[in-house]
Amino acid sequence: MTILFFFLCVSFLLAAGGGAAYSDEELKAYIVFVDIPPPVSAYDSGDYNSLLKNVAGTLEIEEDDAASRVIHSYRNVMTGFSAMLTEREVAALSKVDWFVRAVRSSVYRPLTTHTPRFLGLRHRTHSVWNITDMGEGVIIGILDTGITPGHPSFDDHGIPPPPAKWKGRCDFGNASLTKQFCNNKLIGVRSLVNYDRSRHRSTVSPIDTGGHGTHTASTAGGAFVKHANVYGLARGLAAGVAPHAHVAMYKVCTDDGCQGYDVLAGMDAAVEDGVDVLSISLAGEPTPFYDEPVAIGGFHAMSRGIFVSCAAGNSGPYPSTVSNDAPWLLTVAASTMDRSFSATVKLGDGRQFRGQSLYQPRGFSPKKKYPLVLLDGRARFCLEGSLDGVNVKGKIVFCDRGGNPALPLDEVVKQAGGAGIVLPNYDLDGYSTYASPPLAVPGSNIPYADGLKIKAYINSTARPTASIVFSGAVTHVPRSPAITSFSSRGPSQITPGILKPDITGPGVDVLAAWNTEKFYVISGTSMSCPHLSGVAALIKKVHPDWSPAAIKSAIMTTAYVKDNTNKPIPDETNLPADLFALGAGHVKPLKVLDPGLVYDNSPEDYYPYLCGLGYSDHQIRSIVNRKINCSSIKSIREGDLNYPSITVRLPANQKRTVTFTRTVTNVGHSPATYYAKVKVPKFVSAVVVPRSLTFERVNEKKSFKISFKRRGRLGARRPPVIEGQLRWVSPARAVVRSPISIFLK
Ligand SMILES: *[C@@H]1O[C@H](CO)[C@@H](O)[C@H](O)[C@H]1NC(C)=O
Ligand SMILES: *[C@@H]1O[C@H](CO)[C@@H](O)[C@H](O)[C@H]1NC(C)=O
Ligand SMILES: *[C@@H]1O[C@H](CO)[C@@H](O)[C@H](O)[C@H]1NC(C)=O
Repeated sequence: MTILFFFLCVSFLLAAGGGAAYSDEELKAYIVFVDIPPPVSAYDSGDYNSLLKNVAGTLEIEEDDAASRVIHSYRNVMTGFSAMLTEREVAALSKVDWFVRAVRSSVYRPLTTHTPRFLGLRHRTHSVWNITDMGEGVIIGILDTGITPGHPSFDDHGIPPPPAKWKGRCDFGNASLTKQFCNNKLIGVRSLVNYDRSRHRSTVSPIDTGGHGTHTASTAGGAFVKHANVYGLARGLAAGVAPHAHVAMYKVCTDDGCQGYDVLAGMDAAVEDGVDVLSISLAGEPTPFYDEPVAIGGFHAMSRGIFVSCAAGNSGPYPSTVSNDAPWLLTVAASTMDRSFSATVKLGDGRQFRGQSLYQPRGFSPKKKYPLVLLDGRARFCLEGSLDGVNVKGKIVFCDRGGNPALPLDEVVKQAGGAGIVLPNYDLDGYSTYASPPLAVPGSNIPYADGLKIKAYINSTARPTASIVFSGAVTHVPRSPAITSFSSRGPSQITPGILKPDITGPGVDVLAAWNTEKFYVISGTSMSCPHLSGVAALIKKVHPDWSPAAIKSAIMTTAYVKDNTNKPIPDETNLPADLFALGAGHVKPLKVLDPGLVYDNSPEDYYPYLCGLGYSDHQIRSIVNRKINCSSIKSIREGDLNYPSITVRLPANQKRTVTFTRTVTNVGHSPATYYAKVKVPKFVSAVVVPRSLTFERVNEKKSFKISFKRRGRLGARRPPVIEGQLRWVSPARAVVRSPISIFLK
């Protein structure tokens, strides 16, 4: 799995590479599903050890050896254990009567002052914080790299003790740290990595080594901290989305990534401890749900009423890269806020290009014109060593992207004595630029297209010059929010009939708590996910009886789809983002508490969906943790799941009408009448029956049908996918919006 934090991603990916050839005698980590109920009464780690010991003969190993193989046992999110086994041993184990399946444990990677106002949480008249008590009493569990003890974002001033249902513990593995820093804000801290199998405890402290976990935890539930800033910028009152919620950190990642068996153990512990929301800023490769710890653990968490919010992944803008895409999880894309750490490049001919830089040098005169150079060969890309012997002193260097750099380009310019850098991004990143990580010299990260214009200027002039104007953190940047280039895209590889990602939230240059430096700015779907976790905590506070599906529906159907210039939210190309980038739109906390209607689902509603995916009974059992017989369950198509978005396939040979049934539950005013307004492009027709729904009571359910049909013969120039929307409108009260994605191929 990947920690979805953008600039570290590269090194994590390098660590993930290296497909060494394994022999079948090599010990590898497996997650083993056993029969339900399991052949032991209490299933703590010791019992699975003795279970393995009993079959040592079958495995052809010593009893003592067998007894030391178990890593974790799982009793909440699945029935079974993880263990170090060879391929040969797994083959032998598969003949034992309690064995169901074994899966190789995958590796996951870990992928503000401004966000609360941007999200409207501090709006004066209908303050969401006012209505929700800032999430007081709600417990947010976070699976991540650990937490920084004593950070002011986890101060518990004004926060009451956790509710009685809380069974977790806060333990830094050091009595004085625990005494000093566990409090009513930070109620849970546990490490599940590097488990010592003989002593049943982790050998690694839960203290955050990088800062990723501290950042995500403070984004979801951080307390108010005055004068928060980074390098003196963006100074202000910092707070998480739910500043009065309780926070519980489950450390499941080390600097080497996150082992699937530890992620599963973290979810198992969080469910048992009694968290209300789980925030998961990690991802692996797209994987069938029955082999994927977050999907498996998330199913059980959802069954217990826990809302699970996950990062969509940082593998965009390539299509079909979205991870954490099970329909019982919220899958969160990343977009910009309306803030920029401004660094404008002014050319000698007077033209200006807006860029970004977290490093805002003092004493860099905006008036002074520096020679602007673009060199040849390797020096064009500012590769390590390429500027040796080149006189760039007092010059601003334009560094092109390419050539696989080993050292950051700004470092190379710094070492060569350059006065500054102009750094375009890659073609693929379009207009997505990032302020962080900070540049080593005065400079600006600019869009690719602007880089082309600046290169043409350099080429056209005998003495090209430039200056850089630093204006600090500026807000109200037009065309915000915008989906950022790294945000993973649909359609889902695993369940293409469910639109993923579900929603977007702030994930670019997010300021939150960090490690040694108190606050830091980073980007990733790791950053957008905890914003949605915090929003879910606020909803839980006001609507403790809503199911995870109802909360997700409220978030999705109230999302907005226009940017701050009233145009469709763009992606990195500055063109309207498609549904595979945007999902239902951008979260709007002012609306989520009162969505009018919700598309609800019970845990059992997913069984026919899983059968419909063609999974075997054993595979489904791994997910739902109970015996399932698909021959006695009427399976459904993906599009039949009562989901808040709609995906339909109308290939050329599909002449018939495709009809889905949806059921909405009234969670708003009553009596109330809603009218259907459906909009699809001319290539298809869409009909809703009935045209209106009247509710007499709260919690009343009503069903409707929506039918799609191709209109006549479509020319060869039809697009492969088209988009529409269904809105249920209760005049002057509520609009319940579902995006519609239509595949014509
Ligand atoms: C919400 O706002 C109202 C009016 O401004 C105030 O009386 C009330 O105390 C506030 N509630 C909370 C929980 O802050
Ligand atoms: C620079 O100008 C020359 C001649 O005008 C042209 O051939 C070349 O393609 C230009 N290069 C760039 C990068 O614009
Ligand atoms: C599954 O259900 C079918 C139809 O009801 C039945 O014939 C079959 O025996 C069941 N299989 C199992 C393993 O229970």
